[in-house]
Parts: sequence; structure tokens; C-alpha cells
Amino acid sequence: MSDSLSNMSFLPLLKQDYERLQFTHMRDLFSQDAERVERYSLSVADLFLDYSKNRIDDDALAHLFDLAQTSGLEQAREAMFTGSAINNTEGRPVLHTALRYTGPDAVMVDGVDVMPAIREQRQRVADCAEAIRSGEWRGMTGEKICDVVNIGIGGSDLGPAMVTQSLAPYGRTGPKLHFVSNVDPVLIGDILADLNPATTLFIIASKTFTTQETLANAAMAKTWLMSGLGLSEQDDGWQQHMLAATARPETAKASGYRDEQIFSFWDWVGGRYSLWSAVGLPIAISIGSEAFSELLAGAEEMDDHFRSAPLKDNMPVILAVLGIWYRQFFASQSHAVLPYSQRLARLPAYLQQLDMESNGKTVQKDGSPSAWLTGPVIWGEPGTNGQHAFYQLIHQGNDIIPCDFIVSTTHEAPEHAQQHQILMANAVAQAEALMCGKSEQELKVELADSSLSPEQLELLIAHKTMPGNRPSNCLLVPELSPKVLGSIIALYEHKVFCQGVIWGLNSFDQWGVELGKQLASRILNEINAETPLDAACHDPSTQALLARLLQLRGN
Ligand code: F6P
Repeated sequence: MSDSLSNMSFLPLLKQDYERLQFTHMRDLFSQDAERVERYSLSVADLFLDYSKNRIDDDALAHLFDLAQTSGLEQAREAMFTGSAINNTEGRPVLHTALRYTGPDAVMVDGVDVMPAIREQRQRVADCAEAIRSGEWRGMTGEKICDVVNIGIGGSDLGPAMVTQSLAPYGRTGPKLHFVSNVDPVLIGDILADLNPATTLFIIASKTFTTQETLANAAMAKTWLMSGLGLSEQDDGWQQHMLAATARPETAKASGYRDEQIFSFWDWVGGRYSLWSAVGLPIAISIGSEAFSELLAGAEEMDDHFRSAPLKDNMPVILAVLGIWYRQFFASQSHAVLPYSQRLARLPAYLQQLDMESNGKTVQKDGSPSAWLTGPVIWGEPGTNGQHAFYQLIHQGNDIIPCDFIVSTTHEAPEHAQQHQILMANAVAQAEALMCGKSEQELKVELADSSLSPEQLELLIAHKTMPGNRPSNCLLVPELSPKVLGSIIALYEHKVFCQGVIWGLNSFDQWGVELGKQLASRILNEINAETPLDAACHDPSTQALLARLLQLRGN
């Protein structure tokens, strides 16, 4: 356990809880309480969360909710929904919730109701998506758009890419979607190799419209398009094949985009929370505008729950305090997200940005160092692949790695229901094995009839004994519809928000990433030999690497 906690006056109770529970086995907690599952589970929207397989009891939970309340979570929650400038280092509100709000109330930013502008952009996205899907939108040569390539990175890629993949069955009637993010030209090169410029549309998604990787990929796309369509610099026509989604419409305009090509959003939409805005245009094109509205509706339902439910009955808050419990008291460095749904294969990557870019910080909002262990490493793979790769360590390794099992309970193709049951059985079995483990006693009984020598038996028992007591949440979701997915994403957004508030962080900036961006620009100039290699600006290792790169390139 981290020593830093001793400074916090209200934490002795939680420390006592930890001291009691660190040696308590969950098996005993279950056997002492026939109601445990019922009391430690809840349904919200279409989601069912069972959090009974956690190393907690009523006292620990009560103290964790006290902690959340003492940290001002209820006030912070209201401040977010009502447009206070809670992103204090950038002086901005955080209003992704307004993007999916359908109620009658105004949402004010600097004295202006932002809802009319949100509705207008929502409508523009819907109209554009439908025009492309129906074929009313034509390319320069009069052909229908068959392929849409989204060029963006981070929040301008991960959300749309994850949602589009997750909802693939809803996207079968629309154009084919492709996602270009990495600046490695191999990615875009491989995608473009199979496409026809006359039937391809690009969406350049960038909140700032300055991101190096996105601009480089966009330039490559435009060159490919112009040459494929036989256009020169001054010609029109490319406009039917390139759109921009950005919070900097004036920057897009300066690059030659016209008003009708630009879909705007606003500074108060964080990049990693932007899939609900114009950045969601590729989603709407893929699944249709009605299904996109359903996605927003699922998120809005979770918003309503999060905003109104008492902390102890609040699904995002419950996930948040459990995460803090393991991070702080059990020093869990990571948290695994294990979707038992192939469609959700990109969810762990999406949650990596959402969580790690938001709470991967050690300085509190007021500039003082955090007294807590903050954001864990988020990782995962869809089941059952992970079982044959890294679960061994979760079962018998040194660290406690809390897991979220996300299990889709029905299958989209009834004829494959039997195989889908294998998937579900594995999810449930893994969570059970992690919790129950296997005791020495059980192994002795199991191996009693074997012909092993006493020495061999002892050795095998040592290896096969599983401590169990490894925590997990299980989120059961019905068939993955747009609405269900919207609720899942909003659940995690709010979980991350709650943890940030309790840890005292600003979850909405990312200064560490910004530093890397600045250095990359300077180093690019040196690699291009546009500016001389400046030894005073680099550490010796970087200097030597750059010198070697330049030498290999013959500069
Ligand atoms: O990775 C840092 C970051 O700023 C993210 O927060 C953002 O989603 C991504 O870069 C892309 O930024 P933009 O949308 O401005 O191109």
C-alpha cells in the first residue's frame, strides 16, 4: 500500500478495511452472505453489472462512497453537466454530454445556449450521411461513393473506428469504412492501393486541424485523389471527395476547404470524447443516421442515470471506486478489459486513450502533487484469445489485476448460438476460476488416486494451487446494438471522470502528449536537414541517434 495515504485524514477507515480484507478470501465473503450477489449487482439501461467478485464488504464500500462524496463528486458531476469550465488548465467546459442531450433545457457556455448549434450540426451530419448512403451524393465523375476513409488519430480515430467495427452488422448496407491513423505511410498506402479515387470519400478528422500525422496522411490522400481524378492544383472537383470534421473551421478553410465541406464541433468537446460530435460522421455514414441517434440515446440514458442516481447505486461511481480501491490499496498497476464479443475487439484500445490520457497524471488540479496512485495501465484482448496468451499471469502472477469481463448474452446470428455459448461459458468460467482458485486440499482430493510418488504429488500440488481471490466485474450486455454500445461507452467515460475527481486531477488535458508533439516537429526539421542538428537541444543519446540516422540517409 502507498505510504502517501497516511497524510489523508479521512482514510484510516479505508486502511482498516484493507487490513481486514487483504487476507479475507472472497469465497468466505460469499459463504457468509447469501444475498451478496443480489446486493452487489445492478441494472442500468440495458446493462447488468455484477460486482460481487470484488474484495470488498459493506464497510469498505461505504467508506469508498464517503471518499467519493468528500471529494466533491456530486458537485463536480453537476458542474460538468451544466458547462462550468472544469478543464481548468485550458479554461474550458467539458460538454460531451450535451452532444447526446435531447431534452428541452438550455446548456449555457459563456452566456450562450449551445444546444441550437449542436442540433444544427447533428442534422448536417445526418443529412450528409444519408446523402452518401443513398447515392444522392456523387463523386466528381458522377459515381456513387463506395469507400469512405477517415483520416485522424487518437480521439479522432479510436472512437469512430471502435464503434464502426463493433456495429459492423448495422453497416452492411452503407459504403465500406477505412481508418487511417498512424503516420507510417504503409497504412494509408495499403488502403489506397485497393480503392478507386472516383468512388472514394475522405474525412479529415482533427479537432485542432494541426496534428502532424493527420495532415501528412491528408496530404498523401489529396495527392492520390488529384492524380487519380486527373486534376491539377487549381481544379475543383476534389471537394466532393474530401470533408473535414474539426473544431477549427477557420484553419480548414485556410487549407482550401469550403463551408459545405466542413463539419464543426467545439473546444469544449475533448478529443477522446468526440465521437458523439461531427467526428462521428463516419459512424453515421456506416450505420445510418437513425442508428447513430440510437448510439447517442444509449449514452444519454447512461448520462441520466449518472447524473441522478445516489453514489452508492450509481454504476459509473461503483466501477470508479472499485478501481481506486485496487490501485491504491492493492497497488494494482493495471486493469484488464476483456470483451467476450469479437465485435468489441477495439474497445480496450479505445479505453486505453479514454482512461490513460485522462488520468495518467500525478499533479492535481491545483498544481500540487497527487497523494494517490492514479490512473492504471488499461489493456486487454477479446476472449477467448487472451485466455491462451496472458490469463496465466492474471491467475497465478504476482500482481492483482482487476478485470472487467464484458459479455454479450445473445448472438446476432441464431444459427451460431451454440458456438456463442462456448464463448459465454468461457467468460463465466474464467471469472469463477479467478475468484475461487484451487486449494491444496481440493488438489489432494483430486489427485488422490493418481500413481504419483509423494514427492511428485507435492511438486504438482505446489504448481497447481491457485490462490484465487482475484477480483473481476462482469458486465452482461444484450446483443450489441447502437443503443447498448452508447451506454457502455458513456459508462466508462463517467467512470474515468469520477476517478479523476476523486484523485483531484484535471482529466481533460494531456500536456505530456503535447511535449512529444513539439519535439517531433523540431526533430523532423533536423532529419529533413532543414535546420542543423543542434547538440545543445538534445541529450547525448538522441544526438547520437539523429547523427546516425542522418548518416544512414547520406546527409
Ligand atoms: O494524442 C493527443 C491528442 O491531442 C488527443 O487528445 C487527440 O484525440 C489527438 O491528439 C488528435 O488530435 P486532433 O483531433 O486535434 O488531430
